[in-house]
Amino acid sequence: MPTTLQAHQNYLKSQKPYCIDLLNRGLRDVRISLIDQCNFFCPHCKPGKQSESLRQKHSQLEFNQIIKLAKIFIKLGVKKIRLTGGEPLLRDRLPELISKLKDIGVADLALTTNGYFLSNYIYQLKKNGLDRITVSLNALDENIFKKMTGGHGTPKKTLQGIQACEKNGFLSVKINVLVKKGINENQIIPIATHFRETRHIVRFIEYMDVGTENNWSEKDVVTSNSILKKINKIFPLVPLNRNYPSEVASRYIYKDGKGEVGFISSISQPFCQDCQRLRLSSDGKLYTCLFAENSFDLKEHLHKNDSELSKIIQNIWKKREDQYSEMRFCANNNGRNKIEMYKIGG
Ligand code: GTP
Ligand code: SF4
Ligand code: SF4
Repeated sequence: MPTTLQAHQNYLKSQKPYCIDLLNRGLRDVRISLIDQCNFFCPHCKPGKQSESLRQKHSQLEFNQIIKLAKIFIKLGVKKIRLTGGEPLLRDRLPELISKLKDIGVADLALTTNGYFLSNYIYQLKKNGLDRITVSLNALDENIFKKMTGGHGTPKKTLQGIQACEKNGFLSVKINVLVKKGINENQIIPIATHFRETRHIVRFIEYMDVGTENNWSEKDVVTSNSILKKINKIFPLVPLNRNYPSEVASRYIYKDGKGEVGFISSISQPFCQDCQRLRLSSDGKLYTCLFAENSFDLKEHLHKNDSELSKIIQNIWKKREDQYSEMRFCANNNGRNKIEMYKIGG
């Protein structure tokens, strides 16, 4: 009997995409940001000031608008919708949106969260049909955790959120660990150790140059290869195939069968060639890349009928040729005015 996760993965692999971009990549995933506010202030993301965000609250897409667009995405072949933020659990009435999205037939509905509010909401999220959860956890040490979140939250609270997921039937949570040189490198082994022998999957993420505010420097990147070597020395690893071609993480299992880890290597091994992700911001703008400078304001067109909107989205995807991570170090990328991470959720 396949697990829910395996069943979804088989489904994702099974169908041919309908809408293809200029680099022959089908549209399969949509990441929908529900809110650009966050209760953390991670230095690698730096969400806007509260006042700015509160103003933007008025421009948030309403649930009926999100559902209208989601139905069109599904007709265009989208299999996975991931809800992000800012922090998506700050969005009012989130469980209601989850059940509406499942009702219209989203095959794989996932959510990425910092975990702080998980214990409060997880029961309702599961009950309303959420399929999968990803939690960010960058350290187990409290001081280092706070360095990574701009002083907010505690590892204990995030771990309680993960435990609440388990209790409510999310047996395999993905744990995203952003690794920054000199800040949380020493947390790699403790985190790997903590989640070994569980069904949760830790994914180590290379620090990326998302947005314009984080003073990113290549010097602060810890490459996946070096993280892998560190873990492999203590807990030998064996590579696995990706679950589906556009999966961002390369996968490994512990040789002794005690769990799985992944590596997301946008800097050292970019994966643009398989990128099937479209991003929708909370105020209704479409972005064809995490590092996009330009967007399309879909909100302006929401009065149009489904067929007109569908054509608009298809035209945007068909003209897409983004491959920022492959070109990151080209001179003409300096000074690029990229969208901020808290607006499109990584
Ligand atoms: P599943 O494979 O469905 O579990 O989800 P996911 O790994 O696509 O989603 P998640 O939000 O966990 O993504 C993990 C991290 O990978 C994000 O926080 C980003 O840092 C990075 N990432 C996701 N999509 C992209 C992308 O299209 N480009 C780049 N460069 N990085 C991405
Ligand atoms: Fe919030 Fe995530 Fe940004 Fe941190 S990275 S401030 S948790 S949205
Ligand atoms: Fe996709 Fe852009 Fe990320 Fe490349 S850099 S994988 S095109 S989102």
